[in-house]
Amino acid sequence: MRAIIVNTPGGSSALDHTEVPDPVPGDGEVLVEVAASGVNFIDVYQREGRYPLPTPFVAGSEGAGTISATGPGVTEFAVGDRVAWANVLGSYAEKQAVPVEKLVPVPGGLDLDLAAAVLLQGMTAHYLTHSTYAVQPGDEVLIHAAAGGMGLLLTQLAKKRGAHVTATVSSDAKEKLARAAGADVVLRYADVAANVRKSCQVVYDGVGAATFEDSLAALRPRGVLALYGAASGPVPPFDLQRLNPAGSLFVTRPTLGHYVATRAELLERANDVLGWVADGSLDVAVYHRYPLAEARQAHDDLEGRKTTGKLLLIP
Ligand SMILES: NC(=O)c1ccc[n+]([C@@H]2O[C@H](COP(=O)([O-])OP(=O)(O)OC[C@H]3O[C@@H](n4cnc5c(N)ncnc54)[C@H](OP(=O)(O)O)[C@@H]3O)[C@@H](O)[C@H]2O)c1
Repeated sequence: MRAIIVNTPGGSSALDHTEVPDPVPGDGEVLVEVAASGVNFIDVYQREGRYPLPTPFVAGSEGAGTISATGPGVTEFAVGDRVAWANVLGSYAEKQAVPVEKLVPVPGGLDLDLAAAVLLQGMTAHYLTHSTYAVQPGDEVLIHAAAGGMGLLLTQLAKKRGAHVTATVSSDAKEKLARAAGADVVLRYADVAANVRKSCQVVYDGVGAATFEDSLAALRPRGVLALYGAASGPVPPFDLQRLNPAGSLFVTRPTLGHYVATRAELLERANDVLGWVADGSLDVAVYHRYPLAEARQAHDDLEGRKTTGKLLLIP
């Protein structure tokens, strides 16, 4: 099969489109014909070696497709089932062996590419708005990079829960998208400090180094900074004592794996998110569907702040 392999971590040229043997499903695994793989920032961190992985590896960790074979001991799923998964390395490929405990069924009527587009970021937006901090009606919420893959979903879910959303973006075109997703106020990053001070119950910050100080300053006493990513780079070491005079603030650095830690929790979040997309109450904006062979271009575009919404690779 064709796949995108990383032999030596580095820039986007580390992504090699090449021929590799088909995976063979082991105990408790199925083989899936991948219809679409989601591109996520974590794929960039893994490609760069910032999140080190043993090499060589097939890149990507999110996809959707149709089961073509089952390994020993698989009873929950069968050949022909339409499924999606997140946090399983090896999705930038025509085929992937996926453990059944990571599979979620894709509802009839929902396109596989939309399932691949929403699962990882949708479940992340779900846990951030329902569990890390459970947004309440009337809450003031600040969401950075609101026109991005995560940002558009977070904005919609925070609005669904009744929040007043202030969003940040870098351009007029991105502002339009953030407003369409429901943001009440849209700011450029440089205007946050002057406009949002000590008023937010929660800040959702996936930008990291560039926004961290403004995010802290935006929180009201006992507010929560959910630092869920670092698109601009990691936040430098931080003196915890600063949280005390700033208002007994909370800072957390959450990750999806810990919020889909049981099969029940995974299915609950996945079924919510896929169900909302299927019934039209959650919009997934696919920025571009790149052929698998163009994985390098997809990474360059994502890192270059050129994109909005979700990027897909189509084998
Ligand atoms: N913790 C978790 O469970 C989890 C799960 C999924 C994703 N994430 C994290 O969420 C973050 C967003 O991921 P995503 O895939 O949805 O990406 P994205 O938001 O679609 O793309 C990143 C956006 O960040 C903004 N940005 C600001 N400064 C930037 C810089 N210096 N370089 C690049 N981008 C910059 C850009 O929007 P503007 O041009 O509008 O500024 C850019 O479009 C990533 O850090 C990712 O690792 C975390």
